[in-house]
Amino acid sequence: FAEDGSRLWLRYDQIQNQQVLMAYKKQIAAVSFVANSPTQKVAYAELKKGIVGLFGQDAIFSSTSNNTLLIGDSSNKEIKQLIKAGYFKDLGEGFIIKVVIQNQMTKTIIAAANDVGLLYGTFHFLKLLQSQQDVSKLNIVEKPKIKNRILNHWDNLDGTVERGYAGTSIWDWHKLPGYTPTKYTDYARANASIGINGSVLNNVNSNSLSLTKEYLIKTAAIAHVFRPYGIKVYLSARFSAPIEIGGLKTADPLNPEVQQWWKDKVKEVYQYIPDFGGFLVKANSEGQPGPQNYGRNHADGANMLATALKPYNGIVMWRAFVYDDKVPDDRAKQAYNEFKSLDGQFMDNVLVQVKNGAIDFQPREPFHPLFGAMPKTPLMMEFQITQEYLGFSTHLVYLGALFKEVLEEDTYSKGKGSTVSKVITGEIDNHQLTGIAGVANIGSEANWTGHPFAQANWYSFGRLAWNPDLSAEEIASDWIKLTFTNDNVAVNEIKNMMISSREAVVDYMTPLGLHHIMARNHHYGPGPWVKDAGRPDWTSVYYHKADNIGVGFNRTSTGSNALAQYHPEIAKLYEKKETTPLKYLLWFHRVQWNEEIAPNKTLWNAMVEHYYEGVKSVEEMQNKWQKLDGEIDEDRFKEVSQLLAVQHQEAKWWRDACLLYFQSFSKLPLPAGYEKPA
Ligand code: GCU
Repeated sequence: FAEDGSRLWLRYDQIQNQQVLMAYKKQIAAVSFVANSPTQKVAYAELKKGIVGLFGQDAIFSSTSNNTLLIGDSSNKEIKQLIKAGYFKDLGEGFIIKVVIQNQMTKTIIAAANDVGLLYGTFHFLKLLQSQQDVSKLNIVEKPKIKNRILNHWDNLDGTVERGYAGTSIWDWHKLPGYTPTKYTDYARANASIGINGSVLNNVNSNSLSLTKEYLIKTAAIAHVFRPYGIKVYLSARFSAPIEIGGLKTADPLNPEVQQWWKDKVKEVYQYIPDFGGFLVKANSEGQPGPQNYGRNHADGANMLATALKPYNGIVMWRAFVYDDKVPDDRAKQAYNEFKSLDGQFMDNVLVQVKNGAIDFQPREPFHPLFGAMPKTPLMMEFQITQEYLGFSTHLVYLGALFKEVLEEDTYSKGKGSTVSKVITGEIDNHQLTGIAGVANIGSEANWTGHPFAQANWYSFGRLAWNPDLSAEEIASDWIKLTFTNDNVAVNEIKNMMISSREAVVDYMTPLGLHHIMARNHHYGPGPWVKDAGRPDWTSVYYHKADNIGVGFNRTSTGSNALAQYHPEIAKLYEKKETTPLKYLLWFHRVQWNEEIAPNKTLWNAMVEHYYEGVKSVEEMQNKWQKLDGEIDEDRFKEVSQLLAVQHQEAKWWRDACLLYFQSFSKLPLPAGYEKPA
């Protein structure tokens, strides 16, 4: 059978490097793991699977007192000492991995304050072994920087996945609750291995049926599978559910009957799923119902649900992705305009979930101006792992680089260094309730994500959710070692490919701050010419505004003034073209085709260069990959080679389509040395 990638980054193939293997076998001659609770049992099973696979032997699970891997058991003298030394203080879901050498006996200890920490520690240790790290002197204390680390599935009850490019939904609602395939367990394992602790099972454009008894029982069966892995289930709640499945005439959040309906519904949910996480809500956006239908605001809506969830420690994740063509202003401004003034009005179990940028998961966007602007409200980051605007699961684009760029942006909200990352970890405004969400790219395809490299996007989301300070490079390195090879040269080649892939897609799709010029609706392929879409904010011309003089959206004080939503430090800088980073130029400015944006470089020439550079980068990725022939198993090698060839074709398609379109306005020739687009 084909090597289909279904084992993700949990492959546990036997270590071929004999030196490393011998050292490991010596250090871990035995394993002592007293596994009682369901979580301890799955940690034990994982460890066993991992060690048996990596070491190629089964014999070490007898406990001896020499060279032992000690897991968990706080009755143990070494672990007692760690507790005494204060290691467990504030550890939360974290873990300790420590090597203690006494009388020439090595004890490798994995310990945690609770079961799920132990599971995370076990996965971490296995990762070190898989990536052949030196584990002889470990002294690790790790804990997550963000509390709720959640995947959002845009999965519909009929098995389709909105913006899903990896097959159909993995949730088989038809066969649930009776049938819960191993795939659900593997999903939980994979997520727990990178620290993800929540999953919203259904689409934000939700169907009220998911809140009916019949579906709650099905959801409970999934929750049952996830529970030992520390993963809570959440549901997207449709705001009009009281009407659709409750028989009420209204869903007005201030109506006592509506409030009671939600209280009763939540009570019922917890009867089936005692550790239910809470609701995700898309309201008054893209036609979804919400509190504004009744003249109420987002806080009224969120607080009604939060009141119902509060007794059970449930949370509400209220999305700030709102825009409406009836609002005549710049779409980029609407979320801030609707939410900023509500700061301080949300209950303490509400998170406002904000997309990374103000438009919609573009290849590159400036960070959303709400980050740093609502200090009294915990803001949750929403990234999109599925590549809706980035070539679906056909193009190789490493999103770790995109996520990191956003997390590192400075909001200046509490002075220099108030990064987006520190806003969402709660550091800046002292929030205990924190969260991060990623719109999943998972589906029924054998390798879960379609493109083998799309697994890295799921992986990097999880790693950054646990610790947003990790670098995109180190996460990529880890993933490559776990997924493909431990060969240093190959790891570096692949890492370089991954890191450059993000800039490549920006270059061949939307360089210099261009955005939302994809084909209408499906968003695959170029469509800068789209001008009839039923509403202006669904066209491309709305966003680039090209004419014979220039191109770009003026969001400065002489334009829509969206810039004023940012901290004055940023607004001041971006107000002028000269001090705006080139990568955001056309996002904030209208620039003439022949205007110089860099020494001796006109906008038009720069645009041409970027589009060509994007195609060239894909060619370089292809060359790098070809060098790995023989290093990667044949199946995945071939799959990636073919997909890169498609990506190359499509990068050219993007380049030529966009340049020919924009050239019809600029009327300028290509600079010397550039071939004419086909
Ligand atoms: C995008 C996407 C929709 C999705 C929406 C959302 O607009 O195209 O399919 O429903 O985002 O995030 O709610």
